[in-house]
This record gives sequence, C-alpha cells and structure tokens, in this order.
Amino acid sequence: MDDPNTEIMMILFSALGLGMLALALVSKELAQRVRLGGQGRLFLAFGLGLGVFALSIKAGVILYLDVAKPDLAPTKLVQRQREGPEFSQPDLARIITLPSQLAKSGNWSTWQALPQTVKPPADNPQKLAKARLGKKLFFDKNLSIDHTISCASCHNLETGGDDNAPVSTGVDGQKGSVSAPTVFNAAFLTRLFWDGRATSLEHQAKQPFINPVEMAMPDWEAVELRVKANPDYAPMFEKAFGQKASITIDRIAKAIASYERLLITPNAPYDRFIAGDDTALSAQQLRGMALFQEVGCRSCHIDPIFSAAGSIKNIGAYRSFPVFADNSYVKKYDLLVEGKASVWRVPSLRNIAQTGPYFHNGAVKDLKEAIRIMAVSQLGKIISDDPVDDLAISSVAISGKKSQRRLTILRDQALTSQDIEDLEAFLKSLSGEAPSLTF
Ligand code: HEC
Ligand code: HEC
Repeated sequence: MDDPNTEIMMILFSALGLGMLALALVSKELAQRVRLGGQGRLFLAFGLGLGVFALSIKAGVILYLDVAKPDLAPTKLVQRQREGPEFSQPDLARIITLPSQLAKSGNWSTWQALPQTVKPPADNPQKLAKARLGKKLFFDKNLSIDHTISCASCHNLETGGDDNAPVSTGVDGQKGSVSAPTVFNAAFLTRLFWDGRATSLEHQAKQPFINPVEMAMPDWEAVELRVKANPDYAPMFEKAFGQKASITIDRIAKAIASYERLLITPNAPYDRFIAGDDTALSAQQLRGMALFQEVGCRSCHIDPIFSAAGSIKNIGAYRSFPVFADNSYVKKYDLLVEGKASVWRVPSLRNIAQTGPYFHNGAVKDLKEAIRIMAVSQLGKIISDDPVDDLAISSVAISGKKSQRRLTILRDQALTSQDIEDLEAFLKSLSGEAPSLTF
C-alpha cells in the first residue's frame, strides 16, 4: 500500500462497486413505483449508472492530485498558504542515520570515518627509512635560499599543520597571496593547493623550494646541491631508495610525500561516533551534524575528509566560490578575485578549529563567521533569528504549463544563531589526534 496509485485504484474501484450496488437497488425500487416498461427501466438504469461512474472518476482525480501530486492539489495549496511562521522544526533526530545502519549501506553519501592509513601510489611505496628521510627534509631550513625557512616554518605541526596567519611569510619576510592550508590529511586529497593545480603530494612537494616568495631557490638542481652538501643525507637516501641511490629532486619529493602520508589525524570525536561510540558527540554536535547534511554543506564537503577532492569519495574537486556573491560578507572580506567569483578546490574541514584564519585569502578569523559566509554565499541562505525570515514567498512554474505559476512558501531559508553555533560545535568534532612520530 505504499504506492499512492494502488491506493487510489482501490478506492476508485470500491466507489464504483458501491455505486453499482446502489444503482441495482434504486432501479428495482423505482421501476416498481413508477411502473416503467422494460425499455424505460433500462434507460433509467443506464443514465443513473453513468452518473455514478462519472462521480467515481471525479473522486479518483481529486484523490490522485491529493496523494500523488500534492503540489498541484487545490486543498494543499490553501493549507500551505495558511501555515504561519510557527511551524515546528523538523525532527532532526530522525534525519540522522545511526552508525550501525551507516556501516551497512554502501551509498557514497553515507558518513565515513577517516581511515587510519593512506594508500601510497605504486611508484612510491611506504617505507620507514623513506618517511624518516622525508621528516628531516621537511624540517631542513638549509633548503631555502637564505637558510631561514623550511616546510615546517609554514606548516607547523604543533599548531594544526599550518601557520595560523592570513598569508604565509617566506624568505626575506616576503608575503604570499594565499593562506597556508594544513599538511595534516593532505594525503587524502587528489588535488592540492587552493586552485588544485598539484595532483599528488610528490608533485606538490617540489614547488615550494623554487617559489620566489617561499623558499626561493633558483632551481631544483640548487636544492639537490644543498642536500648533497650535508653528509647525513647520502646514507639516508640509500636506506630509503636502495644502494647507490643518487640524490635527485624526485626522490626528495618522494621522501617528503612519504612522511606526509603519516601526517594524518584519525580518531576525532566524529570518527569515534561513526565507529559506533554513540557518546562521542554531544547532543549539540549531533544537531550540527544533521544541519550540516540538511542545509547542504555536504554537497561539497564530503567525508571522510570533508572535501569534494577526497581520494576516497572524489565527486569532482572544484566548486565556484562565492556562488551567491551579492552579499556584505563578500565585500567585507574581499573574497572575489579581480572582482569575480573563482573556481576553487573544495578544502577539507578536518581539524578546521585549529587551522584559521579561513578562506583562500585568510581574511576570516572566526569559524562561526566562516560558516555564516558559506551558508549565505554557497547556499543562498540568510542568517536571522526572526522566524518570518525562515519563509520565502515565491512564484513557482507549474510543471508542464509554462504560462501558469503558483505562489508558494519556501521554508528553511534562514539559519539562526543557534544553528550556526551547532554547526560550529559539529565542525569542532572533526579535530583528530595528531600523530606522535617518534623517529
Ligand atoms: C612560506 C610558506 C610555505 C613554505 C615554506 C611551504 N609551504 Fe606549503 N603551502 C604554503 C601555502 C601558502 C600553500 C597554499 C598555496 C596555494 O594554494 O597556492 C601551501 C600548500 C601546501 C600543500 C597543499 C595543501 C592543500 O590542502 O592543498 C602542501 C601539501 C604543502 N604546502 C606542503 C609543503 C611542503 C612539503 C613544503 C616544503 C617543501 C612546503 N609546503 C613549504 C606555504 C608554505
Ligand atoms: C557549493 C559548494 C560548497 C558548499 C555547499 C559549502 N562549501 Fe564550504 N567551501 C567551499 C569552497 C569552494 C571553499 C573554499 C573557498 C575559498 O576559500 O575561496 C569552502 C570553504 C569552507 C570553509 C573554510 C575552509 C578553510 O580551510 O579556510 C569552511 C569552514 C566551510 N567551507 C564550511 C562550510 C559549511 C559549514 C557549509 C554549509 C553551511 C559549507 N561549507 C558549504 C565549497 C562549499
């Protein structure tokens, strides 16, 4: 009985049956009273039968509209317009699928925990000696032109894997143009950098050395020479890449990437919740999680890495930002590039509470403000505590009839300050355990 059509057909046929039964009784009674002849009786019965039939059809059509196409049903339209601002919030507890059910369904949209390890590419298998070499290179300031800057200068592993500054400072105090993202969990991304121009950690790791405002080496050969000049490195390269393995920029990048594949932060409260610990998230965080799904954040920030460029559920790395550019936030924080929206690799939200300031230009310090900006600029929401603002009257085209439109009320247009706080509480549950690499 789930299918509305079956339901309608059953009602329709019962109506018809009852109509015929009534007709038989009525026609017998009438014939006796009016003393009609055989022919007249037949006509009367036919006429009445037709009436009953037409009535059943009408009832059927009304029922069909009501059940199968509620949007077009006249009764529903009136009801909707009457609904005032005091509608009840949807029962969010019902919207969240519980972990045990999650584990069973293989749908891409299900929530997933961060894996404990990363799969390396075929040409750069994980090896302890390689990661150890990578760590040394990552912290080596001699690989910058004036011996002052290492990868770790801008990707501080003690403070969330970034530098917590709006834009980074490279050699000679030079400022870059974008904010440094964290290196934690970068291994799960298929596209690196804000514009996604690097396709692997190996590809990415070669760039900062020769970036004029970062480490500013003249070329990769100069980097190789600096590594060769330190006698500690030759034996480490042999252990990592085999006997007589020479020092090349590609091997330098491979070793750094190998180290970065260990810089992952599993076991965040969110991950523990997904793994089945129902107490890992507070009620507020759970509500934030439901909101994160319901308002549409997940259409771009997909788990387990909460980016569209995740190697596990890659759904196309890039999205435009801001989608809705005409708002005060965009102006206030200068979020356009040369006056226009740009296409960005969707960033991960793992450890987001530790990686401010936010956005490509690092213009936003407060996480709640970043959430408001996303809701307004990416989802077309408004931020308001006035229930009236949660409803928007709009005129919607009736499908199939281009000339006809109907007035309707769209709900859930506004996020309240409570909603923003709940979303923030949820995002804080994405902070995992930084690895303690004792080698
Ligand atoms: C002067 C500061 C600075 C230094 C030094 C630096 N980085 Fe970065 N890093 C950044 C900035 C800024 C970005 C973003 C650049 C962009 O998107 O165009 C970035 C991006 C990255 C990313 C991509 C993360 C993501 O989510 O896309 C990785 C990985 C990374 N750096 C690793 C390294 C490694 C490895 C080194 C050393 C070889 C290094 N960085 C040196 C500032 C720095
Ligand atoms: C249409 C895709 C899309 C949707 C929907 C979306 N985001 Fe984003 N999000 C992005 C992109 C793209 C960026 C990077 C923008 C930039 O910095 O230029 C981003 C950046 C962020 C950042 C800052 C990340 C950082 O490292 O600086 C946060 C926080 C965030 N989003 C949270 C949310 C929340 C919460 C929602 C739901 C209210 C949401 N996003 C909805 C695409 C989206």
